[in-house]
Amino acid sequence: MKYSQIVGTGSYLPSRILTNNELAQSVDTTDEWIVERTGIHQRHIASNTDTVAGMAAAAAKQAIAAAGIDVNKIDLIVVATSTPDKFFPSTACLVQEQLGINECPAFDVGAACAGFNYALSVADNFIRGGMSKCALVIGSEIMSRIIDWNDRGTCILFADGAGAVLLEVASQPGIFSTHLHAAGQYKDLLYTPSGLHAAEPAYMKMKGSEVFKVAVTKLSLLVSEALDANKMSNSEIDWFIPHQANLRIIQATAKHLNLPMEQVVVTVGEHGNTSAASVPLALDQAIRDGRIKRGQVLLLESFGGGFAWGASLIRY
Ligand code: ACO
Repeated sequence: MKYSQIVGTGSYLPSRILTNNELAQSVDTTDEWIVERTGIHQRHIASNTDTVAGMAAAAAKQAIAAAGIDVNKIDLIVVATSTPDKFFPSTACLVQEQLGINECPAFDVGAACAGFNYALSVADNFIRGGMSKCALVIGSEIMSRIIDWNDRGTCILFADGAGAVLLEVASQPGIFSTHLHAAGQYKDLLYTPSGLHAAEPAYMKMKGSEVFKVAVTKLSLLVSEALDANKMSNSEIDWFIPHQANLRIIQATAKHLNLPMEQVVVTVGEHGNTSAASVPLALDQAIRDGRIKRGQVLLLESFGGGFAWGASLIRY
């Protein structure tokens, strides 16, 4: 049997930090409201010269260095993003060019905030099926470019960043299983209109409280599904690495798992919601600061526009 194993992680955050107090100078909100309802204190915002591909490549370079491999060993690049620099070439092709990687399949996956778990699942299945031996999986987003900075319901939440994971084929898991879901009937609760259609500006629209309710319900079912599929109990999880959308959603899912918050990687306070980048950013941070150790069991989940949601159960 073939499995995939995480051999390196990396991340990138733009240097510009935008605090709640700065936001409160331009929209009708307060630091207290944002912290109480979301747990967010600040977020990183891309500069005019940052690109989604450039941030992805920076995160990937760290992952490659952490794994200590030659870049030309990489035979698959999958990038999760909803904010690509161009309709085409794909962000993955731009990353391939920036990293100087030889010909290999390279493509993007669009599943909004759930994108990283989708991309990880795709790469895992390429490796299990024998089509790849070394896959680069990245989540990279510049959400600040699709935000209406006058809409206090969304501009307080979203942010920019990138995270990357390098997978290699292994004889033991690695990734035990991935679990993906989507339900298009919720398409009007969270969406960004296409910039090609001039009827409305291409800014994200969200019915926040409705998204919140569905997210809490679906994520509770999802994490149970991942554990049941592997006949594991919640006591076997060492670290829960959730999508960083809202601290209250994270706390509700951790409560469902009966996990203390000490076992939950939380970056939403400093990073905001970086969509497809949020999970690999949190993963990389907890690996680099020494919390996550080799051999530990990790549960990753994410939820976003579509709605689409997904989870991955992994031995690091
Ligand atoms: N500051 C002050 N007041 C605000 C703000 C703000 N920034 N935003 C909204 N309000 C007001 C509303 O206008 C409303 O006022 P009203 O009662 O007078 O009408 C009141 O606060 C309550 O609004 P709600 O939307 O019910 O507030 P809620 O507690 O639900 O928090 C939030 C809003 C933070 C957006 C929350 O609903 C949320 O996090 N939702 C989920 C977001 C998410 O998970 N998205 C999924 C991933 S994103 C992706 O896939 C791209």
